[in-house]
Formats: sequence, structure tokens, C-alpha cells
Amino acid sequence: MEVNEGEVVLDIIHRLQATQAPDMAVRWNCKAGKCGSCSAEVNGVPRLMCMTRMSTFAEDEVVTVTPMRTFPVIRDLVTDVSFNYEKAREVPAFAPPADLKPGEYRMQQVDVERSQEFRKCIECFLCQNTCHVVRDHEENKENFSGPRFLMRIAELDMHPLDVADRVPAAQAEHGLGFCNITKCCTEVCPENIHITDNALIPLKERVIDRQYDPVLVPLAKIFRRNKKN
Ligand code: SF4
Ligand code: SF4
Ligand code: FES
Repeated sequence: MEVNEGEVVLDIIHRLQATQAPDMAVRWNCKAGKCGSCSAEVNGVPRLMCMTRMSTFAEDEVVTVTPMRTFPVIRDLVTDVSFNYEKAREVPAFAPPADLKPGEYRMQQVDVERSQEFRKCIECFLCQNTCHVVRDHEENKENFSGPRFLMRIAELDMHPLDVADRVPAAQAEHGLGFCNITKCCTEVCPENIHITDNALIPLKERVIDRQYDPVLVPLAKIFRRNKKN
């Protein structure tokens, strides 16, 4: 294919559509790295096609574009990402204290800044596609929400006005224990969100605090014993 200066992989896919394969399916929207639609694997590396410059490849290099591997293919480069929407629905919404009315919410700037990073997510699902827990293990999908949604749980758990107890469910229902902090999700995030360091590891620390706290653990045991009696 002809390649012009400044072009990205998505331009070449569009040229292929226009000249050789008019029925080729590809999902895209903004061509600016903001809608998260054009996720694919370019030479096996999960990337946004609209943000991958052709100048990063040698002139005679064969560039292979394939659909995201973790999700079922609908057609050509378009995958069925409904797994992610199902997992999103399983995370309970922000739960402010019942006695606070809208307009009365107050939080420190430091707390705003902490969650700001996570809010940059464009839901491209490249992290979900890359995580080895589900990439080659269809059987884990049921019990693992993936980095994007574990990050959402961490964000809510760090929110000073969220009163829901999210830590037990993160471990028991969303599969936090599957994550062995390899950071592959972080490496492919086009928004450079530090998913592992700033969300998953702090969430794991909260689970460990809860399980091994020298005061809380004996209290919980006594409480359980009394309940049985
Ligand atoms: S750090 Fe955890 S969530 Fe991210 S890719 Fe590795 S195992 Fe998956
Ligand atoms: S965290 Fe990053 S890689 Fe994952 S869906 Fe959001 S923007 Fe994409
Ligand atoms: S087309 Fe919107 S992120 Fe690529």
C-alpha cells in the first residue's frame, strides 16, 4: 500500500477499504486517540490504530493488523467487546452518604487528583485484551473483571465520599487475586494510566490490610463465633 508522510495505521486501513476491500469491517470514530474504538493488534502489539504512526515501521517491513485476541471476532477487525460492558455493570455505582444532598459534596484537592488519573480512561479495552489472565484463558472470564474494572473499583474505594465496602467483592467477585501485577496492562494503556501501581497494588494492599490486620482479624473471628452461638 502507498504510505504518505504523517499517516497512521488507520489511514492505511481506510485506503485498503477504498481501493481493494470495500467490505472490510473496521471500527473507528475520532481518529484522535479519544474514542477508544480503533483498538487492534499491530504486528502482535495491542494498540490504537489511529495513534500508531507508519513512520515507526521500516519502509520494507510487512505490517500485520489483526483484531484484539481476547474478544470474539464479529468480522475482520471488529470484535465483540460486550464482556467489558457486562463487567462494568457488575461494579456497584458511586454510593455517597445517604444524608448528603447533591451540592453538599466536599472533598480535598488531593483526593480529586488521585482519581483524576483513572478518569482519563477512554475505554479502549486494550488493557483488558492484554491481561494474560483472560487473554488465553476463556475460562477465567467469568471470575475476573480485568484491569479496567478493578481500577474502577479502586477509584471508588479511594473516593472519600463513597461509603460502600468494596474490598471484599474486589477479591471474591471481581478476581483481584488473579492479578499478579505483571504490569502488561499498564504498558499498553494509550492514556499512560499507571493501572498497576496506582490502582491494582493499592487495592491489593487494602485486601491484605483487611485479611491480616492484628486488631480487625481477631475481632472478626470473635464476631463470627458469637453469631454462630
Ligand atoms: S498487572 Fe494484573 S491486571 Fe494488569 S496485566 Fe498483569 S495480571 Fe493483568
Ligand atoms: S485503562 Fe487505559 S488501556 Fe484500559 S481501557 Fe482505559 S484507556 Fe484503555
Ligand atoms: S479512532 Fe478514536 S481512538 Fe482511534
